[in-house]
Amino acid sequence: MAAPQAVRGTRDLIGEEQRRHQHVVDTARRIAAIYGFDEWVTPIIEPTAVFARSLGDTSDVVTKEMYSFEDRGGEWITLRPEGTAGVCRALVGNGLTQSLPQKVFYAGPMFRYERPQKGRYRQFHQIGLELIGPSEPLADAEVIACGWAVLQALGVSDATVLELNTLGDKPSRDAYRAALIGYFSEHREQLSPDSQARLDRNPLRILDSKDEGDRRLVGSAPTIGPYLTESAAIFYRDLQAHLHRLAVPFRENPRIVRGLDYYGHTAFEFVTNALGSQGTVMGGGRYDGLVEEMGGPSTPAVGWAAGIERLAMLLPQAPAAPVGIAVIPVGESTESAGLEVLQALRGAGLRAEMSYRGNLKRRLERANRIGARAAVILGETEIAAGIANVKDLTSGTQTEVPLSGLVAHFS
Ligand code: HAM
Repeated sequence: MAAPQAVRGTRDLIGEEQRRHQHVVDTARRIAAIYGFDEWVTPIIEPTAVFARSLGDTSDVVTKEMYSFEDRGGEWITLRPEGTAGVCRALVGNGLTQSLPQKVFYAGPMFRYERPQKGRYRQFHQIGLELIGPSEPLADAEVIACGWAVLQALGVSDATVLELNTLGDKPSRDAYRAALIGYFSEHREQLSPDSQARLDRNPLRILDSKDEGDRRLVGSAPTIGPYLTESAAIFYRDLQAHLHRLAVPFRENPRIVRGLDYYGHTAFEFVTNALGSQGTVMGGGRYDGLVEEMGGPSTPAVGWAAGIERLAMLLPQAPAAPVGIAVIPVGESTESAGLEVLQALRGAGLRAEMSYRGNLKRRLERANRIGARAAVILGETEIAAGIANVKDLTSGTQTEVPLSGLVAHFS
């Protein structure tokens, strides 16, 4: 049988890649906690209904990209393409709609059947935040500020720009939709077949089209500004004022509509030029209707998610590999003394390893190969004298250390 390959668009995270990935998650988790968010872990599989309507039945994610299957009990299941709908499902299912606000952080794998390329995978990973309950624009600003703080802590904020837009409230969007239908209808035959279908069902989606011809038309399409109701315009203005106060730099981009349909008011993306065509590292916005779609009461909410792979690629340097101590018994009779030293070091929280065979030379070679910082060499005469030879593998210097003082020596 030919060796099985990883599924197209999936990746193994090993060595430096795993450390980069872990560093992104650890950093985001730490910053999110500082901002008052608690971690939730929701299932990777959800009933298909959790996503099918809520993400938008004209969105690419729902129409082309979901991994859905009927399980053995005849239930339709989907591998989650994103985290927000599952969090809202969990909020309602766990009776938490009466305990607001809920401030949720999450991290984990997501699945979309997309065409794989650099920075775009079929199994990818997100970190995300959801702030459920507040309707004030200050909530949007704080959620964005926390995202910015994560990017700063990762050292990637210089490479990214926050692009901000508003999608207004429902009356604003209805008026804007009518304007878009008017504009695109005049150019209907120039639209791609996908966008012709979108024109009837959800013309805002056309603004998000990747098709070259569509993009040319989008360039001259109306923007939402003139169609905003007074209260939607005030909301957007207040959000910008709060971002200024929180010292989060941004630029407005009226073309941002986001790829999912649940947004209203705030829509934003942190983008970079450093990753080629997959330049959006973090995206989010306000989604005041989603909790209600999951069967809960009308509940405002705002959040974002970021692609861990994209952030990991942007990291200015890879986190260092962990370094440990190699314990080297010389000759079989010293092995049990070696084990004692090994467990004593580990008991003190020090990373320590002992290989199972080989003479001193081979074991030192291996110690260097695994990047150990020091070798504890245990010969019969040294053990009898209650000492060990400690070799610093960076400098090469060797010193005698009493066995009873080894833990203190390395701590
Ligand atoms: P999204 O824009 O679909 O939003 O995805 C967020 C981020 O996930 C993207 O900006 C990108 O960095 C990463 N991403 C998406 N698809 C892929 C892929 N195929 N491969 C690699 N990375 C990818 C959401 O998912 C919303 N749930 C965000 C949100 C949270 N809105 C409100 N709360």
